[in-house]
Amino acid sequence: MRLDKYICDCTGLTRSQAGKLIRQRAIVVNGAIAKQAAMKLSAGDEVQLDGEVISPIGLRYLVMNKPEGYVCGLDDPHHAAVFTLLDEPAVEKIHSVGRLDVDTTGLLLLTDDGKWSHRISSPRHHIAKTYRVWTADAISEDAAARFAEGVVLRDEPTATKPAQLELVGSHEALLTIHEGRYHQVKRMFAALGNRVERLHRERIGQLQLPTDLELGEYRPLTDAELAAVFIGND
Ligand code: URA
Repeated sequence: MRLDKYICDCTGLTRSQAGKLIRQRAIVVNGAIAKQAAMKLSAGDEVQLDGEVISPIGLRYLVMNKPEGYVCGLDDPHHAAVFTLLDEPAVEKIHSVGRLDVDTTGLLLLTDDGKWSHRISSPRHHIAKTYRVWTADAISEDAAARFAEGVVLRDEPTATKPAQLELVGSHEALLTIHEGRYHQVKRMFAALGNRVERLHRERIGQLQLPTDLELGEYRPLTDAELAAVFIGND
């Protein structure tokens, strides 16, 4: 691989920025200052940038405990995006796996692997997502049965897929859904005449929100956590 391409893969910089670093004598290959952007690298060559060995970024699989007040898109002029909480090279390549509302907290996956995020978000794979819900009014006795049957959301022709509701208290429950419609949980409770006051995602597949993450913190998923997302879905 060409040296400038390798620098791009390691840093997320453009080819011309990589070329500039080479001209500035900031790149060292196997102990010697590199002079040519087109230099061919072989397996095992060591490249340093400003004295630090660099290696390709590769695909990233991150888990965040999303705080309130942040959005998962880039199109909201009034709220900061969750990506501003990331300290990652080439952060613009990272997207969230589905979206949580600005006031929803909890388990959010982030990646630059589009195939992986599609596998998790696509309704075809019906990966379970579990939310802890706090409601304005007491949750009605028939709520679990109605969610298990499917409810028709406002302005939508088809009922929701069967969902599981586990009551925790009169105004608190765990709801597991297998699709990801717009504001789905809030609209499901609205269909029962109730209102969601607070929403926190706790689980995707068999992956629980890690207990070591404070709100706003993130880290790479471990191999076991990566596998847990798909347990029961292959
Ligand atoms: N359902 C909602 O209503 N909001 C979310 O953020 C996620 C699921």
